[in-house]
Amino acid sequence: MDTNRLSATLEKALNAQMTNEAHNAQIYLAYASWASEKGYDGIANFLFRHANEERTHMMKFLEYILKRGGKVTVTAIPGPGDNPKSVNDCFEKVYTSEVENTRRIYALVDASMAEKDWATYNFMQWFVNEQIEEETLAMDLLSKIKVAGGADAKDTALYALDADLGKKPDDAQLAQDATVENP
Ligand SMILES: [Fe+2]
Ligand SMILES: [Fe+2]
Repeated sequence: MDTNRLSATLEKALNAQMTNEAHNAQIYLAYASWASEKGYDGIANFLFRHANEERTHMMKFLEYILKRGGKVTVTAIPGPGDNPKSVNDCFEKVYTSEVENTRRIYALVDASMAEKDWATYNFMQWFVNEQIEEETLAMDLLSKIKVAGGADAKDTALYALDADLGKKPDDAQLAQDATVENP
C-alpha cells in the first residue's frame, strides 16, 4: 500500500530545496572561513552561526519529507563558488543568495498551491516568514558596510564593523514583531 502523501513533483522539489539549504550552509561556511583567514573574527563568528541555521533548515525539509511518507534523497551538495574579494563583496553575495533562496521557496509555495497540497503549503509558510528574517539580516549587513564606506571601506571602519558583528544576535528585528509597548 502506498502511503506517500507527497506527489512525485513535490517530493522532488522538497528534496531539491533540502539540498539547496545544505548548499547555503556551505556558502556561509566558506565565507566564514574566508573572513576568519582575513582576521575578521566577528564576521566569521556571525557567518559560522548562520551556517548552522541553514543546516537546521535542511533538517526541517528532511524531516517533513519523511513525515509525509516521502523518500529522502541525499545527494552531493553543490560547492559555494568563489570566495568573496572583500567584505563588501561578501555581504553582497550573501544578499544575492538569500534572495535566490526566497525565489525557490516561493516556487515551492506556488507548486503546493497548484496541487492543493495544503499540508505542504502550510509547512512552507514557516520558510516564507524565515526568509523575511534572512533578507532583513542580509540588508542590515549591506547597510552596515555602506556606512563603513562600501567597496572602499578603510581598515579602521572594517575593524569597528567586525567588532559590532561579533555581538550581533542571530535573529533580525522584524517590523511584524513590533508592538506598541516594544516598537
Ligand atoms: Fe535557509
Ligand atoms: Fe538563509
